[in-house]
Amino acid sequence: MSREHWDREAATFDDEADHGLADPAVRAAWRALLLGVLPPAPARVVDLGCGTGTLTRLLTDEGYVVDGLDLSPEMVRRARAKVPEARFTVGDAADPPLEPAAYDVVLGRHVLWALPDPAAAFAAWAGLLVPGGVAVLVEGRWATGAGLPAEAAAAIVRGAGREATVQPLPDPALWGRAITDERYLLLSRH
Ligand SMILES: C[S@@+](CC[C@H](N)C(=O)[O-])C[C@H]1O[C@@H](n2cnc3c(N)ncnc32)[C@H](O)[C@@H]1O
Repeated sequence: MSREHWDREAATFDDEADHGLADPAVRAAWRALLLGVLPPAPARVVDLGCGTGTLTRLLTDEGYVVDGLDLSPEMVRRARAKVPEARFTVGDAADPPLEPAAYDVVLGRHVLWALPDPAAAFAAWAGLLVPGGVAVLVEGRWATGAGLPAEAAAAIVRGAGREATVQPLPDPALWGRAITDERYLLLSRH
């Protein structure tokens, strides 16, 4: 999807419960999920396809040092306002213009599915990690028909020479409503 598409999405992006995390209960659910898989703070995190910076905000509040990257200048403008202390870059996550082997965590929520060549992109993401760094992907195959099934995401990660563990995310607390489609967190520790 194009930069223009995501620029248009930016103004209303946070309206979805899991995007804006405006509901404290939904935010608490994401906090618990992410802190349960991340190394302890402070650690360097790169939030790829960071959108309006909601997860960057959450993790910065927990003491992580987070860099965000997004293709959409409108998303990044909002992210900078939301997290003034983080560093954001406008750029393509398919080939991130970021320091290689520098991050303890690569985080991508709802981004890999949108890239034209997710396998090539994930291989580039893995190159951002320090030895022993972890990759955390949150993806889904949504009721709309869009998205990336867990099996496909796991195959991409394993194809890059890393292990993959998939945790289904059916808990309505994460989404602000009950869901019937496939949503998951993929954790790759090595
Ligand atoms: C569904 S949103 C998810 C935003 C954020 N990760 C979140 O979970 O709130 C997808 C994001 O990926 C960004 N994006 C799409 N294609 C991209 C690309 N090639 N490089 C970087 N960001 C991209 C979009 O601009 C948008 O902000």
